[in-house]
Formats: sequence, structure tokens, C-alpha cells
Amino acid sequence: MYENLTIVDHPLVQHKLTLMRNGQTSTAVFRQLLREISMLLAYEVTRDLKMTTKEIETPVCPMSAPTLAGKKLALISILRAGNGLLDGVLELIPSARVGFVGLYRDEETHRPIQYYYKVPSELQERRVIAVDPMLATGYSASAAIDLLKNSGAKDIKLMCLVAAPEGVELMRKNHPDVQVVTASLDECLNDDAYIVPGLGDAGDRMFGTK
Ligand code: URA
Repeated sequence: MYENLTIVDHPLVQHKLTLMRNGQTSTAVFRQLLREISMLLAYEVTRDLKMTTKEIETPVCPMSAPTLAGKKLALISILRAGNGLLDGVLELIPSARVGFVGLYRDEETHRPIQYYYKVPSELQERRVIAVDPMLATGYSASAAIDLLKNSGAKDIKLMCLVAAPEGVELMRKNHPDVQVVTASLDECLNDDAYIVPGLGDAGDRMFGTK
């Protein structure tokens, strides 16, 4: 449907997402599920990483063995909800470099306002994975990717948990080169720019705030 969108329809991802959508799910369980699901999404988002080989000695014989090529990945958390996805991805890719983009949503205009930006060096030589659980209007994700491109990033993917068509469209318009990987494409946004059916405010649900 959207060529810039990959939906991870693995049964474990879909099952965990349903548990997370349930408004009765506690903060602790929500956080644990987010960690688990982020590892499964990371598997998909890194599927096409470039490989090379290196010479090693197994206990049995020498071998030319596959290994990741190039510089360490850069994981960029779009604050604050991105941090929930970041933890699981870092568990899977512990050597990744990490950056943070702080954007908050103006509650009236729904436009992003930047308050923090710190990213690893040499972004132009790294696979950059931006993480943000909810792709709603797409304004924050698109603005974050503008900033990353200004810092030199060329090979960028956006990993999210739930996407709305509006956000996917905006990403396609502004950043057609950036593949969006998500567990679900939901129906629409409501008047408050929340994803429907969605899972509510991802930051509040993972941090227990209101
Ligand atoms: N941010 C959220 O946390 N949830 C939404 O539904 C939309 C934006």
C-alpha cells in the first residue's frame, strides 16, 4: 500500500502489541512488552545491513565467517517515548552508538518544538535507526529526520510501534528515502492527534505519568 512502509506481521509482534493496546495493562507489563517487541522490530530493521567476512579459527578449523561491515550503528531516540524502544534495541545491538533528539508537541498546533539534540559523530557513515513508538501526524519524526540529515545521515530507517496513515504519508512526502518499520498501520488520528485505535499516550503508559 505504501512503498515506504514495512509492517512486521510476525505473530509474536502482533500478540504483544494487542497486550500493549489493552488499557488494563499495567505500566510494568507495558514496559516489558515494549522491550520485547523492540527487539523483534530491530530484527526486521537490521535485516539488510551490509556484511563482510573475517578470518577466525573455530576449535575445529579456520573459517571465513560473516560479520557486520562498516561503522557501528547509530540509534537515535526521539524523546521521550523513543527511550522505551531504545532499551530493547540496545540489548540486541550493544555496541551501537546512541543519540537523542528532544522534541515536544505543541498541544495546539501539534507541531514539534526542539529542546535537545545530541548525536554520534560520523553519521554519514552509519546506518541510522531513529526510534519513536507512535508515528501520528509525523511532524516530530519528519523534523527529527531533517536534523539527522543536516548532521550528514544518509542511510536512515524509522522504527515505530504503531503508525497512522497521516504520518506515513508525511514521511513519504518529506523523506521518501527513509523506510518506516512498524508493527501496525492503524486507522486514523482523532481530533487530538492520537492514533485510533492506537494505545494511548505511549510515554505516559511506559513511564506511568499522566
Ligand atoms: N503520541 C502518542 O503517544 N500516542 C498517540 O496516539 C499519538 C502520539
